[in-house]
Amino acid sequence: MEWILNKLRKKDESDNIDIDMSNIPQHIAIIMDGNGRWAKRRNLPRTMGHRAGVETIREIVKTCSKLGVKYLTLYAFSTENWKRPKEEVNALMNLLVEYLRGEVDELNKNNVIINWIGDISKLPSMCQAELIRAKEITKNNTGLMLNLALNYGGRDEIKRGIVNIVKDVKEGKLNINDINEELISSYLDTSKMPDPDLLIRPSGELRISNFLLWQIAYAELWFSDVLWPDFTSKHLIQAIKDYQMRDRRFGGIK
Ligand code: IPE
Ligand code: IPE
Ligand code: MG
Repeated sequence: MEWILNKLRKKDESDNIDIDMSNIPQHIAIIMDGNGRWAKRRNLPRTMGHRAGVETIREIVKTCSKLGVKYLTLYAFSTENWKRPKEEVNALMNLLVEYLRGEVDELNKNNVIINWIGDISKLPSMCQAELIRAKEITKNNTGLMLNLALNYGGRDEIKRGIVNIVKDVKEGKLNINDINEELISSYLDTSKMPDPDLLIRPSGELRISNFLLWQIAYAELWFSDVLWPDFTSKHLIQAIKDYQMRDRRFGGIK
C-alpha cells in the first residue's frame, strides 16, 4: 500500500534558498485539513487520506526541526471530530497509536520533544498510554517541541482554564485581582509556549475551526488550496517566506 501512496503523492523537494534564517517563526500551528478530499479524488477510502496525511507530518516535522522552529502544533483531532462515523474516529485513533509507536525512536534521535494539547482523558486508553510513553521518552530533548492537538477545541480549553481559575479562587490560592491576560494564558494547555507566530491552513477552507482561539490573537494567517497529503516542505517554506514579508505591528505603528 505504501508504494501506491508514494506514487500518488507529488514528491516535491524543497529548496530553502532565500529564507531568512534569522527570522524563522518560533511557533508554527497547522490545521491539517483535506485528507478526506484527497482520498475521495482518488476513489480511496477516507482513512487512506489520513494515512497519506501522516506521511506529510513526517516530512514537515523534519523540515521544521532543520529550520530551527521551536514549537510545531498540529491540529490532529478536534472536539467536534467526534461527530464523524465511529469507523473513521477509530481509524484516526489507531493511526495515532501506530504513528507514535513507529516514530518515537526517530523523533527522539532528532531531539524532538513530543507533547499534546487538548483533553486526552477522553481518548482511548491505548492512545493515552502511547502519548505518555512518547512524552516520557523525549522529555529531555532540547529541539523542536511537537504538540499534537487531540480532542482539542479552543473553547473547551478556555472553559477548562476558567474552571481551574475559579477552583483556585475558591480555595484561596488565587486572588480575583490577580486575574490578567498572562494568568489566563498560564491556565491554558499551551501555558509553557509562546503564542503561534504563523498559522497555516491547507485545503482551501478559510476558517479557524475552533483552533487556538486565545493564542492566535496576533498570529499571521496563511491559507492554501493544497490538500494536506499533498502539502510538502516547499509549501511550508513558501509560508515562512510570506510570513517574513509581513509587517507585524501588534497594533502599534512603525
Ligand atoms: C483533516 O482532514 C483530518 C482530520 C480532521 C482528522 P479531513 O478528514 O477533515 O479531510 P476533509 O476536510 O474531509 O477533506
Ligand atoms: C479541523 O478540520 C480539525 C482538524 C484538522 C483536526 P475539520 O475538517 O474538522 O474542520 P471543518 O469541519 O472543516 O471546520
Ligand atoms: Mg476537514
